[in-house]
Amino acid sequence: MLKVLSQAAVETYRRDGVYWPVRVMPADDARKYRAALEAHEAKAGQPLQGNWRHKTHLLFTWADALVHHPKIVDVAEDVIGPDILCWTTNFFIKEPHSPGFVSWHQDSTYWGLDPDDVITAWVALTDVTPENGYMEVIPGSHKVDQLPHVDTFHKDNLLSRGQEIAVEVDKSKAVGIALSPGEISLHHIKLVHGSGANRSDDRRIGLAIRYIPTYVRQTKVRDSATLVRGTDKYGHFDLEPRPKADLDAAALAAHAEAIGRQVKALYEGTNKTAFRA
Ligand code: NI
Repeated sequence: MLKVLSQAAVETYRRDGVYWPVRVMPADDARKYRAALEAHEAKAGQPLQGNWRHKTHLLFTWADALVHHPKIVDVAEDVIGPDILCWTTNFFIKEPHSPGFVSWHQDSTYWGLDPDDVITAWVALTDVTPENGYMEVIPGSHKVDQLPHVDTFHKDNLLSRGQEIAVEVDKSKAVGIALSPGEISLHHIKLVHGSGANRSDDRRIGLAIRYIPTYVRQTKVRDSATLVRGTDKYGHFDLEPRPKADLDAAALAAHAEAIGRQVKALYEGTNKTAFRA
């Protein structure tokens, strides 16, 4: 029994490793989430930085509400079943006329998750267009093996290690994912994807929510995750507390603890101790 997606949509996702758009909220609701983010940034005097761009849902009640958003979780359930953890969230924010880009990569490269039943719900909080650096994907590429990647640590690359696929990507097969605020796209952990710079006058803001069924394991470290639906009878992850107030002491401590584990997994083999600024 599917909750939001049609059977055809689920089949498309399984065939292509990607599916969009799915409207999960009115555009005005998405603008309210953007406003909450920007209220914090105005107070902080700078854009959301470094570690706070990751697992942001442990810091702010509005981000926690997004990862628990019933319709988004319904979509995840349609693909990965009823027992669902949020493994992480990552804000991909591109400032107007900024050089930030995402090289061609597979998310599976450094995450340590097994098996690969990992779905990203990429939530658009702004319009997402060719001009502002929308995501491009190679449909069907999730069915190829893990490709070799090289770390570049390029300063404008928004990925943790600036990792990029070390072999030729056939860009003639690439398809761009345009979204309106309040829509999401779905993609599989092994899908080949990347995105260009924002050449527009407004920010491009998306929150990537990574959902896994509770049976998925983390092979690199003892990791943590947030239970968003159902029950966890496996215990592969320590369960994270939800924030009771934005940036309160408990939320800051829980976030720091969780990020410490994630940095250890994602930057394994390097000397990095935090996400890039
Ligand atoms: Ni990615």
